[in-house]
Amino acid sequence: MLLSKIGIFGLIILAVSLQRTESYFGLTGKNVYLDGDTEWDCKRLSKKQRKMCRRDSGMPETLYEAIRLSERECQMQFKNERWNCTTSDRYRENILKKGFKETSFLYAISSAGLTHTVARACSRDVLERCTCDESFNDEKNKETWQWGGCGDNIKYSQKFVQNFLNGKKSGKDLRALVEKHNSDVGIRLVRQEVKETCKCHGVSGTCATKTCWRQLSPFSEIGKLLKDRYEHAYKVVSTTNESTGQAQLVTPRPKGEVVNRTEGSSLGPNDLVYIDNSPNFCSRSKFTPGTSGRVCAKETNCKVMCCGRGYNIKSNEVQKPCRCRVVWCCYVDCDQCLEREEIHLCK
Ligand SMILES: *[C@@H]1O[C@H](CO)[C@@H](O)[C@H](O)[C@H]1NC(C)=O
Ligand SMILES: *[C@@H]1O[C@H](CO)[C@@H](O)[C@H](O)[C@H]1NC(C)=O
Ligand SMILES: *[C@@H]1O[C@H](CO)[C@@H](O)[C@H](O)[C@H]1NC(C)=O
Repeated sequence: MLLSKIGIFGLIILAVSLQRTESYFGLTGKNVYLDGDTEWDCKRLSKKQRKMCRRDSGMPETLYEAIRLSERECQMQFKNERWNCTTSDRYRENILKKGFKETSFLYAISSAGLTHTVARACSRDVLERCTCDESFNDEKNKETWQWGGCGDNIKYSQKFVQNFLNGKKSGKDLRALVEKHNSDVGIRLVRQEVKETCKCHGVSGTCATKTCWRQLSPFSEIGKLLKDRYEHAYKVVSTTNESTGQAQLVTPRPKGEVVNRTEGSSLGPNDLVYIDNSPNFCSRSKFTPGTSGRVCAKETNCKVMCCGRGYNIKSNEVQKPCRCRVVWCCYVDCDQCLEREEIHLCK
């Protein structure tokens, strides 16, 4: 974590040394994803990505799965928020034109979803050009256990994704730096969360030999970590470095201030960064359909979700099991009763 200690200046150096790229895919891609579409092929991609997609017969389904994975996780993480990760093209594309925190999240969750899906597709034998991870790199443990099983191939995946998202060079602008940075955060996080998993072999519970392999963390954990970083994202501005003439990222904070990591005031390579303050997502605009009509939970988020407009109460009748009794030893028999249930909808 050397970079996080260096703080601001670490990021400046990091950012400037990055190749400026276009990295559009998944929830950040244009026309790449159509709602409810089941026909998906490489044609939707940019020229370079299309070529990489067509090289492997398992790739189209893998890429499609990656988009769906990112979408589902994004919507899960934001289901109780004003912005609920609407992926309909109209709103999403307008958000992508800006540099909101939400835009940052879309970049990170897309690259993370792709990294995760490709690594797993290798071990599931879906892709032709990669297999299980079979690298043996932990020499000190070699005597007590062996690598085996079929590990998720994070090495191949990371290389593939970096190449896949590394498009033609675009202008030297702030947005390109921010997009690349956030995209890299997603890739790195999936790699950092790879766990070694082991299984014991031996006579009745002894662990005479162990087989270990690398396993990805469930994507829901990646989503949770990224959501946390979204909540603690740093606003950055562009300044021109007088000696190099290049744009660079800095936090709008006095230079030379002591960086204090525990107060969360420094930037590291794992932090999400953004440029523009987000709208409040309360009412309909080009970024959001607004929260009118959204279901909220009275005890927790109605106040915030409904933006002070209040809510309507709708009463639904739902069937629920009731008057349950145990039959014989181990079987429970219930009647179905109609119960009234109140749901709250933002005005
Ligand atoms: C300008 O860029 C150079 C080279 O990357 C770097 O050493 C220097 O610290 C930068 N200047 C400022 C004010 O950030
Ligand atoms: C960093 O933050 C902690 C907790 O707020 C504080 O106790 C500490 O003195 C700070 N260190 C510096 C160098 O400011
Ligand atoms: C998000 O909210 C909009 C209304 O603001 C609603 O139409 C849409 O179905 C919601 N999407 C998800 C995935 O919950």
